[in-house]
Amino acid sequence: MNHSLVSTPLTAHRSKGLKGRVRVPGDKSISHRALILAGMTVGTTRITGLLEGADVLNTAQAMGALGAWVDREGEGAWTVQGVGVGGFRQPGQPLDFGNSGTGCRLVMGAVAGCSVTVTFDGDESLRKRPMRRVLDPLERMGARVLSVAEGGRLPITLQGARDAIPIVYEPPAASAQLKSAVLLAGLAAPGETVVIEKEATRDHTERMLTHFGADVQVAPHGAHGRRITLKGQPELVPAPIAVPADPSSAAFPMVAALIAAGSDVVLEGVMMNPLRTGLFQTLREMGARFEIAAARNEGGEDVADLRVRSSQLRGVDVPAARAPAMIDEYPILAVAASFAVGTTRMRGLAELRVKESDRLVATADMLRANGVDVTIDGDDLVVEGYGRVAGGGMVATHMDHRLAMSALVMGLASDEPVAVDDMSFVATSFPGFADMMRGLGAEFS
Ligand code: S3P
Repeated sequence: MNHSLVSTPLTAHRSKGLKGRVRVPGDKSISHRALILAGMTVGTTRITGLLEGADVLNTAQAMGALGAWVDREGEGAWTVQGVGVGGFRQPGQPLDFGNSGTGCRLVMGAVAGCSVTVTFDGDESLRKRPMRRVLDPLERMGARVLSVAEGGRLPITLQGARDAIPIVYEPPAASAQLKSAVLLAGLAAPGETVVIEKEATRDHTERMLTHFGADVQVAPHGAHGRRITLKGQPELVPAPIAVPADPSSAAFPMVAALIAAGSDVVLEGVMMNPLRTGLFQTLREMGARFEIAAARNEGGEDVADLRVRSSQLRGVDVPAARAPAMIDEYPILAVAASFAVGTTRMRGLAELRVKESDRLVATADMLRANGVDVTIDGDDLVVEGYGRVAGGGMVATHMDHRLAMSALVMGLASDEPVAVDDMSFVATSFPGFADMMRGLGAEFS
C-alpha cells in the first residue's frame, strides 16, 4: 500500500524531574481483540477505553469491511455489532493493516474459518514481516493461499475454509499472534482446536473468548508452557469490555521517571497481567523504586496505579524465559540499562528481529549513536552501563513506534539531546505521547 506519511523529527532535551499523574492509552492487544471478537458475536458489544491508535483503527476498518457494524460513540467508546462466527461478508477491496502485525495476523485467523476471499496488505514495514508462520497452520485448517509475495510476505490473498478443520498446533515461536490466529480460526471448526505453547505468551485472546462465552480450557504444559483447548463453533455472546491502560505504553513514562533525576510520577490503571509485566519485574531487580497501589480488577484484568521515583539502577541478567512477558519492552529496557551501573544482558531476543523493524539491530544502533557501549551476542543484547549517557545522536526509527519513544525517553536524561528522524509512527500505539510527556515536564523540540 502506498503510505505518504510525512516524517516528523523530534528532539528530546535533558529535563528536570518529571512530575504528575497520567493514564496512558488503552492496551493495544486487548483493543484489537475486542474489535475482532465482538465482530464475531451475535449482537452488540460496548467497548470503553479503546486505544484509538492507527493500528487499532485499521482493525476497526477491516472489521467494518468484513460486515460488522463498528461505531465510535465518543472518546474511546465504541460499539460493535457482530456478524457471528463464520458470518463475514466478502470485502470489496484489500484490507490495509498499515503498520500492525497483530491486526493483520489475528484477522487472517478469523477469516481463515469463513468462506470469503480476502487480500491482506500493509505498509512498507509490515510488508517485510514474516507471514508464512501464520499461513502454515491456517492452511492445515483448510484455508487456501491464493497469492503471496516472495518470502511469504504481504500482500496475501487468503480464501477461508468452507469447512474449517480443528488442529493440534505447537507454534514454532513464542508468539501470541500465532496462537491467537489459530484459536480464531478454530472458532469456525467443529470439535477441539488445541494450541500447545512451550512458553506461555499473553493470554488476552483466551480470556476474551471466555468472556464472550466460548469454552476454553487452559492447562499448564512443561515448565513455562500452556495447553489451550477451544471447543469450536460456539455462539459468542456480546459482553461489555473495559480496556485497561497499556503496560507496554506505561513503560515509557515509567523509565523516563526512573532515569530523570528528581522525578515522581503516578501511572494510573496500568494492566498488571503477569504475562505482560516482565519489564516491571526486571526494573525491580535493577533497583527501581516504584510502588504498586490500589490494585483492583477492571473488566477481567488486574490493574494498579504505579508510583515511580528516580532511581539509581544496576545492571542485571534478564533470562530468555521472561522474553514473552516483555517482548515489546526491550528497546526501553535497553535505555534503562544504559543509565544503570554495570552490565545488563538480555537473553533470547531472536523474535525482536521480526518486529516493526529488526528491533535487535535497531536498538543497538540507537544506543551506539548516543555513545552507549552495546553488543549483540548471538540472540542476546548486552549493554554496559556507566550511570550516564552522552547522547547527541540522531536515531533512525525505521517506522518503529517503540524505537522512537525509547530514544526520546533517553534524551530526557542524557548529557546532550537525542533526536529521532521520525516520530509519526508513535501514533500507531500511543497517540498523544509527546503531549503527555510534556505535561509531566519533558522537554521536546
Ligand atoms: C501481540 C503479540 C506480540 C507483540 C505485539 C502484540 C499481540 O507479538 O510483539 O506487539 O497482541 O498478540 P508476537 O506474539 O508475535 O510475539
